[in-house]
Amino acid sequence: MTYFVMKAAMLPDALTRRLAESFQMADYALLSERERQVLSPQTRVLVVNGESTVTEDFIAEFPALELIAVFGVGYDGVDVAAAQRRGIRVSNTPDVLTDDVADMAMGLMLATSRQIVGAQRFIERGGWNEGGYPWTKNNDYRPQPDSRWQYYAHIADLAAASDYLMVCVNGGEKTRSLINAPIMAALGREGILINIARGTVVDEADLIQALDSGAIGGAGLDVFSDEPHVPAALYNRANVVITPHMSSATHATRKAMSDLVFDNVAAYFAGRPLLSPVAPY
Ligand code: 8YV
Repeated sequence: MTYFVMKAAMLPDALTRRLAESFQMADYALLSERERQVLSPQTRVLVVNGESTVTEDFIAEFPALELIAVFGVGYDGVDVAAAQRRGIRVSNTPDVLTDDVADMAMGLMLATSRQIVGAQRFIERGGWNEGGYPWTKNNDYRPQPDSRWQYYAHIADLAAASDYLMVCVNGGEKTRSLINAPIMAALGREGILINIARGTVVDEADLIQALDSGAIGGAGLDVFSDEPHVPAALYNRANVVITPHMSSATHATRKAMSDLVFDNVAAYFAGRPLLSPVAPY
């Protein structure tokens, strides 16, 4: 039986090489239509990334597909239900990136609240010669009388009680525009929104309006709804810090993610249980 793997997304070079050395592999983006017709039916494993969109129609191009291995913890772009209907398994890369993503969330929080990027621009344009940078907001948390970890059933209540609202939920239809104008209004003029999850979770038009009107105090964003396009309306604001979806992009974490993708594919072909399946099958 041929172990045929189709790469259908940008992956680290080292992972691509390792897959190509261990299995038969083709890169979907580099194939001609004719080559796709020949190789797609042989494909047993599809390797994609966290930003990939894998629709039911795309899955249908691979009649022998058995596993979709996602390089990323988020698999909101994969139609898991459609895969499941065909008995195709899905794996992702949980846990190995959590620390880096949390670091980035904290970094964005501090960079946004203390306006670190805006302060650098201030020096670069000579502003310091005219005086100091305007005072910014510090990081005092409001005391919670009962517990440090109070639970809020409604996001608007959580936002109203928070100085910083950090978005770390799954993407996909269930959470689309979860953070919208009313939530931002509840977060308030001093409140700061941090998003390291998926751009789709925040309504970008509402966010821009909230920043324009001062309804929220600032935003630190690593993800956007139409990557790599970032609305120019988010550029050059002292109270907005934007980064190009790089929370998990450290050498160590990208290697750990690559290893986990490879180990899932290898385990699958060896008939062993997947290391990180996304749902029980
Ligand atoms: C990656 C991510 O940037 O894990 C995820 O869900 O979005 C990120 O870690 C992405 O998967 C790499 O393409």
